[in-house]
Amino acid sequence: MNPWLLSIPIAYLLGSIPFGYLLVRVFRNEDIRTTGSGNIGATNVARSGAKGLGFATLLLDLLKAFAAVALAQYLAPDNHDLAVAAAVAAIVGHVYPVWLGFRGGKGVASALGVMLALDWRAALCVLGVFLVVVAFTRYVSLGSILGAASYPFFSLYFLPIRTPIFVGGIVFIALLVIVKHHANVGRLIAGTESRFGSKKVTA
Ligand code: G3P
Repeated sequence: MNPWLLSIPIAYLLGSIPFGYLLVRVFRNEDIRTTGSGNIGATNVARSGAKGLGFATLLLDLLKAFAAVALAQYLAPDNHDLAVAAAVAAIVGHVYPVWLGFRGGKGVASALGVMLALDWRAALCVLGVFLVVVAFTRYVSLGSILGAASYPFFSLYFLPIRTPIFVGGIVFIALLVIVKHHANVGRLIAGTESRFGSKKVTA
């Protein structure tokens, strides 16, 4: 079977598993979309008071996206276009999951998962940018935005692949994560964004 026909739908379906929503629903019988920022991601799950579930969300969202790209790499080794297309499909699945009416998360943990699978060196550099920004500002969203913005540069530095699909996919991943933080940007500008460790969020 054509690896594209297998990899892309599976990547979307893996990415669309809303772990944050499911964990909070199963273990606390709550809808994470109705608390804090309303996001289904690890930050908001932790913010809701469930730090362990937040960590589990981070890990599972990261792993599902990593697995989506790893499958594509297994089916077609050295096909970087397919790998990046699977990465895009996994993040699109997380951000627009069919199971939640296409209203999902912001793709941060999923993006880190695909970055690790595509090139771990670029992923660690992005993680470094994220950690430094969060350490200095305590804004997870700002760390996510600046980390995502740095990704194309690190990826192109470490990987000598310049096909339109690969470069376009990398840039798309960064832009999607940034665009999904539009509400956070509004709160950052207004000075009402929640800092890490604080539960207060002005929606
Ligand atoms: O996990 C995404 C993070 O960058 C922002 O999350 O809940 O503060 O909007 P949140």
